Amino acid sequence: MREYFSKNGENMRKHKYHSDWDEFAQLDPKWAILTEPSKKYNKWNDKEFFETGEREIRNFLTKIESLDIEIKFGQALDFGCGIGRLTRALAKHFDKVYGIDISEKMISNAKKLHKENKKMVFLQNTQNDLSCFKSNKFDLIYSVFTLQHISERNVIKDYITEFLKILKPGGLLYFQLPTVADRTWLKSILLRVRGYIYYLFVNIGFSKEYCFSHLRLEPYMHMNYIPSNEIKTVFSGGATIFGVYNDKNVETTYLVQKNAVRLTADTREIKVSPNCLGQLLLSAER
Ligand SMILES: C[S@@+](CC[C@H](N)C(=O)[O-])C[C@H]1O[C@@H](n2cnc3c(N)ncnc32)[C@H](O)[C@@H]1O
Repeated sequence: MREYFSKNGENMRKHKYHSDWDEFAQLDPKWAILTEPSKKYNKWNDKEFFETGEREIRNFLTKIESLDIEIKFGQALDFGCGIGRLTRALAKHFDKVYGIDISEKMISNAKKLHKENKKMVFLQNTQNDLSCFKSNKFDLIYSVFTLQHISERNVIKDYITEFLKILKPGGLLYFQLPTVADRTWLKSILLRVRGYIYYLFVNIGFSKEYCFSHLRLEPYMHMNYIPSNEIKTVFSGGATIFGVYNDKNVETTYLVQKNAVRLTADTREIKVSPNCLGQLLLSAER
């Protein structure tokens, strides 16, 4: 219960949030990342788990190709990388991929699992910003099943603004963020209570694994959402939204390009305003 009853409210919240993900990283990291019910209690095997990442990245690249969007395969960032399911798949295509995560234990698991692959760099970041990276660094930022777990909407929007800052002009941002709630308030309360009981039992001496596997207790996993019209305003002026997929859904994803730079037919470089590029692409899609 230490995490819940600190004198300093701000530090307490920060500490608690990391520690929940550290708990999941210790109890059942693969299920915490892909919460398929039949795979709970450490039933994912590494091979099938990492294959889901490869499939996902292949589908993403096919989508980019079908939209005829230019993509450079220099440096990519996997924000909220967990144990590197997508970092590893991205590293098959990009020169260098950074995986960052708030949880120290997720990062140490990721480092252990991928120590042979020098194209991947795993870092813990506990700041509400991405000042650990310089501006205009990445060709692609990819983030799924992560922003939804951040409890404050302003922090989510700040991260998205940071994504734009560290993307190269013309770089792509692909992220998932629900536009609707996936649980009722009653279910949220019950899940929170289960989280409190988990920490209570751990603090009185039960092993974490016993609480999880036998007593079916676990920390609370936050779920947030933001309607897509609120997200679109974050991009006004700085970027073009190519598509909002599965809008009004928990699976809503956004494909965005920073300050697009396009080549004309005779390969002279021209800068096109974001709105103008949006129209160009819409007509190309028709
Ligand atoms: C459900 S997992 C998804 C992992 C990965 N994106 C994937 O799809 O394989 C969510 C991850 O986001 C991380 N996370 C949560 N809040 C974060 C934040 N503010 N910054 C970075 N990572 C965060 C968690 O530690 C966890 O590893």
